[in-house]
Amino acid sequence: MRRFLLLILTPGLILCAQTLRQAGAQRALLMGAAADSSEQNPDPLATDALYASTLGTQYNMLEAENNMKWGTIHPQQNTYNFAPGDELVTFAQAHQMQTRGHNLCWGSYNPSWIVNYATTATPAQMSSQLQNHITAVVTHYKGQVFAWDVVNEAISDSQTGSGTVMKNSIWYNQPGIGLTGTGYVEQALRWAHAADPNALLFYNEYNIEAPGAKFNAMMVMLKDFVSRGVPIHGVGIQMHITTSGYPSSAGLAQNIQAITALGLQVHITEMDVRIPVDSSGVAAASDLQAQAATYQRILTVCLQNPGCTAFQTWGFTDKHSWIPNSYPGYGAALPFDATYQAKPAVASMINALQAVPPVLNAANIVNAASYAGGAVAPGELATIFQANFGPGTLAGTQLDSSGDVSSNLSGTQVFFDGVAAPVIYALAGQVSVVVPYEVSGQQQTVVQYSYNGVMSNSVTVPVVASVPGIFSANASGTGPGAILNLDYTLNSASNRVAGGGVVVGFATGGGTVQGGAKDGAPASGVALQTLPVSATVGGMPATVGYAGLAPGLVDGVMQLNLTVPTGVTGAQPLVVTVGAVSSQSGITVAVK
Ligand code: XIL
Repeated sequence: MRRFLLLILTPGLILCAQTLRQAGAQRALLMGAAADSSEQNPDPLATDALYASTLGTQYNMLEAENNMKWGTIHPQQNTYNFAPGDELVTFAQAHQMQTRGHNLCWGSYNPSWIVNYATTATPAQMSSQLQNHITAVVTHYKGQVFAWDVVNEAISDSQTGSGTVMKNSIWYNQPGIGLTGTGYVEQALRWAHAADPNALLFYNEYNIEAPGAKFNAMMVMLKDFVSRGVPIHGVGIQMHITTSGYPSSAGLAQNIQAITALGLQVHITEMDVRIPVDSSGVAAASDLQAQAATYQRILTVCLQNPGCTAFQTWGFTDKHSWIPNSYPGYGAALPFDATYQAKPAVASMINALQAVPPVLNAANIVNAASYAGGAVAPGELATIFQANFGPGTLAGTQLDSSGDVSSNLSGTQVFFDGVAAPVIYALAGQVSVVVPYEVSGQQQTVVQYSYNGVMSNSVTVPVVASVPGIFSANASGTGPGAILNLDYTLNSASNRVAGGGVVVGFATGGGTVQGGAKDGAPASGVALQTLPVSATVGGMPATVGYAGLAPGLVDGVMQLNLTVPTGVTGAQPLVVTVGAVSSQSGITVAVK
């Protein structure tokens, strides 16, 4: 009985029961594993219940270890073998997992027919083979594979000069597809993008975990691609490592920072930590501990940069791993042992996911309606992106015992100078709060974010009297406003207001209100703005009949009643000015 009570009262114990995917969801981080069916006989996914249940409960991303490579998926010139890859996609979908595709173009694991073909083919013939392959495979998995390793391991391990020395391969120069330098990588990305414009496209590479010549050579290519608009969205850092300390945390952090500074994401794609094993595959307990520390360390670096969006291991059970074959004397490289028991690495990864502080960046605190950042105003609804610690599924507004919006929503809290802000909704990666009225009159405010009591760094944000942002109909901060005609139907191109008629809009960032307002209180009465409010529609003055809080809204959301001027028609820009500050541009009202 006593133990039972303890379990209920100790949150730490309950959290420890999280799976990797649950803990990852709280960090907006996909937790992935490579999985296979084709190379194994019998197929573990179909025949090994523990293989399937561990994969499906512990991970929310799955990648084909081999099933989507040329050698499996394209065994003959005019034959595609999609069944093994399809099996993984079907499994992923049944278990609410994302599927990552690997890979479309690589110098290894090619079927003998294309290797033989390359010995006599012209570059033009190789080019059309590669285009056909990429088009066929990406089209087959369109909408089902969310991210592709488009090109794998294309850069040479030995670099000279300041450019990018490429690795010899049938796609580069033996005979290649007729493009010099990084040209074939660019071409592969363009073909993949044409086949599925919504798929995220990655360049995947090894020996780029730490700073060095190979990493620099890759950066030359990436900067060139980004500056010319070549479709690329991320870099896969493989991470086949040991417990030696490579890569250093600082070195890996520096590399991830350099990649994400280009606007690209990072996925850790193939992590395993090989350790010495005896002839029965058994590792020393001390090595298993060192391995656990290595997994925790690398995952910690990933969590410290919100641009690191997926963390994947190359397999998940020591029962199926490429390491013993490829690195004789080594093994036991994955988080689960050969009987699917969690090794120390699992607890250490969960620990990182639960304990690494969220990262708050002042630039990611924006007006909830306009998405404009830079400053906050008292009572404003603000949205905070990428602190990346919060509920794994959306938590909606809850009221506290006094009937106000709670300032602790499922463990998520945001503090302005130590005052906890009412939380409108919370989701790992995106949280909306009401900026406390207490910041009124200040030059700046110190903001901190926490989840389950784990505090972020603090950032300082300027405070201004008002930062009006109008809510839009399509949740983009631009486009048609979320504006109601007087009959309370949504104003739209097919439901326009007549010139001279009245519309009702909603905004946040109005600033303080007459008579005061209480943080998170439902706006019960009517309170006018203390600052003058004016508006234009189509550049012409629109009379403001009312601007202020309104019943049914939370304090901080401003209702605006506007008389649309006569003489304008069509989608007309609406601008509201509170005090000296105007709302975002790009919001329109439809006038007939
Ligand atoms: C390996 C697989 O794990 C093996 O089963 C297969 O025999 C060879 O390929 N870098 C990569 C992966 O990008 O595709 C490789 O996978 C491991 C190294």
